[in-house]
Amino acid sequence: MAPVPTAESKRMSLKFEIQPATNPTSDKERAAKLVDPGFGRVFTDHMAVVRYTHAKGWHDARIEARAHFPLDPAAAILHYAQEIFEGLKAYKREDGGANLFRPDANARRFRDSAERMAMPPLPESAFIEAVEQLVRIDRAWIPGGEGSLYLRPFMIASEVFLGVKPSAEYIFAVIASPVGSYFKGGPAPVSIWVSENYTRAAIGGTGAVKCGGNYAASLRAQAEAIDHGCDQVVFLDAVQRRYVEELGGMNVFFVFDDGSLSTPPLGTILPGITRDSIIALAKDSGTPVREEPYTIDQWRTDAASGRLKEAFACGTAAVISPIGKVCSAGGEFLIGGGAAGPVAMTLRKKLVDIQYGRAADPHDWIKRLL
Ligand code: PLP
Ligand code: COI
Repeated sequence: MAPVPTAESKRMSLKFEIQPATNPTSDKERAAKLVDPGFGRVFTDHMAVVRYTHAKGWHDARIEARAHFPLDPAAAILHYAQEIFEGLKAYKREDGGANLFRPDANARRFRDSAERMAMPPLPESAFIEAVEQLVRIDRAWIPGGEGSLYLRPFMIASEVFLGVKPSAEYIFAVIASPVGSYFKGGPAPVSIWVSENYTRAAIGGTGAVKCGGNYAASLRAQAEAIDHGCDQVVFLDAVQRRYVEELGGMNVFFVFDDGSLSTPPLGTILPGITRDSIIALAKDSGTPVREEPYTIDQWRTDAASGRLKEAFACGTAAVISPIGKVCSAGGEFLIGGGAAGPVAMTLRKKLVDIQYGRAADPHDWIKRLL
């Protein structure tokens, strides 16, 4: 059972105390770090932290210098992996300001993840406030051009206790990392490996939420993909081992010769915010989108017959990445001759233009911060 927050903790509007870093990175050092940040290796000067105990509810909200957490070796997170996270980005607009993309959707998914993992729900307003305050204080770290500031909210179980039960104490934090492209080649087509030995999620499991354990369990399959010369792994369903589900950290779409799109239905996959946005953008332009099961055999047949024109992966980190080649133990096949297709690249441009504030935002997805 998830710990039930007290009526007081629910009502309490969290006010973040701001304690700026006393020794922040110099302008020169930051500029050097922003030249080619890669993905997730460079971090800003601050973090947001909020603590939870059963007795006090959510409390002690702070923006402070990024630092280590002191963790007791018996802290619950270290043993039973009671942990959830999110990923969203701040984008620099041409006028120098910053946009967040659908932070309310990340806040909602974080709450859903917390519920599944028997963790206390963080008020969505506190999630958004933490993200916004962190972007404000570390605004100098938002890269220009096609870079962005990747924000990583997460919650860990911090009670010192070895019994298997929901922790009574938690730490919620947000850290920020200036990033370039998730894949070294930018939006160049990626190759994917069909995992036949490993599955990602079964019905009733945790596939639909963003908990760290899902990613730990995917690493062996991802290593197998790399061993076979592929960029990413794609998982099949855990029951029939036929239906395409998603990649290790991205959803997947298929583009057909009649102009329609399809994507695997929700259930055991992560309900991606990029996936949802692509469905909306495609529908805006009159493109039919089906959320329906699609087998790996059909994928192979449709690629060979030309019925399938393109496939692409999508997620916050990866944006939209065309899939050029699919490999499996039984052989490999190309999609669209292995080149990036026009539908993926048009959707990518539409999405990115909204995120950076270069195009109208008809769905009210952008939260303008600065
Ligand atoms: N699927 C998985 C397993 C992921 O980790 C992610 C990334 O967060 C996605 C899909 C895409 O989700 P989103 O578009 O919300 O980033
Ligand atoms: C994201 O796209 O935000 C992800 O979380 C994918 C991966 C980095 C885990």
